[in-house]
Amino acid sequence: MKVGFVGAGRMAQMLTPHLVAAGHQVILTNSRGPESLKDLVATLGTGVSAANVAQMVEAADIVVLATPWGKTKEAVAQAPVWDGRIVIDPTNNRTKPGPDGLIDIGGRGSSEVVAELVPGAQLVKTLNYEPIPIYGQGLSSTEPKALFLAGDNAAAKAKVSALIASLGAEPIDVGSLAVGDQLLKGGGALAMKMRLLKPDEARELLSASTT
Ligand SMILES: NC(=O)c1ccc[n+]([C@@H]2O[C@H](COP(=O)([O-])OP(=O)(O)OC[C@H]3O[C@@H](n4cnc5c(N)ncnc54)[C@H](OP(=O)(O)O)[C@@H]3O)[C@@H](O)[C@H]2O)c1
Repeated sequence: MKVGFVGAGRMAQMLTPHLVAAGHQVILTNSRGPESLKDLVATLGTGVSAANVAQMVEAADIVVLATPWGKTKEAVAQAPVWDGRIVIDPTNNRTKPGPDGLIDIGGRGSSEVVAELVPGAQLVKTLNYEPIPIYGQGLSSTEPKALFLAGDNAAAKAKVSALIASLGAEPIDVGSLAVGDQLLKGGGALAMKMRLLKPDEARELLSASTT
């Protein structure tokens, strides 16, 4: 698959080597244009390229929103059309971990808010519920591991699940975007375990969280 990132920071740089190792192509973007990503792209090797946001959204099979909360609106506005795109949303309404870092969005779910920024896109929430280095460690490990995901569109979840499986993790669907917003946010029942759970543990925790 072609996986495009809005943003080329910590999240994108953690995931890219895993995606490349699994045979995917990666397209990176940032706020300063593809030229500014030349050195990073060279470091990350074959299968990685840079583009502007509009070109990337046009080309990618799956787009990952890897921008800070406060930058996401202006970042996604650079692509004219989101209709029908499959979008992974790992963003949180936070500036940093802990209660001080929470950005007030009036009690709404963060992906509910993000979905309005990418009209017509099929949003899948995942990769938002542990610190980035935990995903890096988990995906690098040969131990069995699970990744939770949530969304409202079955076909989009199937495609993102296939991507997750290609990275060596078992995808575990926690339900709708609204349910995922609650279970996967900071303080949510499935969040901040500080490791990637084994598939059986993840299923048990999900079952205990929803009964
Ligand atoms: N920190 C964690 O442990 C953690 C865990 C789970 C999820 N998340 C979420 O993951 C997301 C990404 O976090 P991160 O730590 O990877 O961020 P980061 O390292 O700060 O990188 C942000 C990237 O966004 C780009 N960007 C900013 N404005 C842009 C624009 N207008 N157009 C295109 N690109 C733009 C930046 O490009 P420039 O350098 O050119 O400005 C940069 O490449 C956040 O929403 C965060 O909440 C974080």
